[in-house]
Amino acid sequence: MKLPALLRRTWPLMLALSMFAIGLDPARAADPPAPVKLEGLRQGTPLNQDNPPANHRQERDHPVGDRDFVQMPPLIPHTISGYQITKNFNKCMDCHAWQKTKESGATKISVTHFKTRDGVELDTVSPRRYFCTQCHVPQSDAKPLVPNTYERAKGMK
Ligand code: HEC
Ligand code: HEC
Repeated sequence: MKLPALLRRTWPLMLALSMFAIGLDPARAADPPAPVKLEGLRQGTPLNQDNPPANHRQERDHPVGDRDFVQMPPLIPHTISGYQITKNFNKCMDCHAWQKTKESGATKISVTHFKTRDGVELDTVSPRRYFCTQCHVPQSDAKPLVPNTYERAKGMK
């Protein structure tokens, strides 16, 4: 198909014009984008420095809470300040190990805590469940950092 002579001569200009119109100005493409002003939760504290800890208190011991979905790691209903978990010692297991719960009144860690990542069932807590506070957290009086619209799973309402 032959383009009309006028169109043939003017198409580069028209292409440049339309690129300009949709913001693809070839002359400007190389400019760095304007800096975006972001305010993180660190409030501008440099990454190699820490903000001072806020003065939050852990909730006092209270009865166990409801769970929001069946697979949820239950929240810790007691303070854990001073409870150490190191390579050689796990304070939580002083009360939550199966042999200890009769005396301590604590909930037994469930059978899922004895399974390794390869599916092998152990007779002591599995390494992948050893550091309890990876999943279980105590509660504090801290205000939420960001708004949250999370809702309890339907089956648990
Ligand atoms: C001095 C004993 C003791 C120690 C140490 C202890 N707990 Fe507990 N824990 C309890 C008792 C008692 C309960 C409450 C059981 C109840 O009220 O039914 C409990 C409840 C819990 C629950 C709630 C269980 C549920 O069904 O909702 C979690 C989770 C928990 N503890 C985690 C931990 C973790 C993690 C640590 C270590 C950082 C820890 N506990 C250390 C005694 C202890
Ligand atoms: C990788 C995450 C993870 C780690 C680490 C972990 N848990 Fe759990 N825990 C869970 C989940 C998920 C549940 C609920 C479902 C289940 O039982 O597996 C649970 C349930 C529990 C329960 C309630 C059991 C029941 O019968 O209702 C207790 C008590 C508990 N964990 C204590 C501990 C203690 C103590 C440790 C450390 C020795 C620990 N957990 C480490 C994820 C974890």
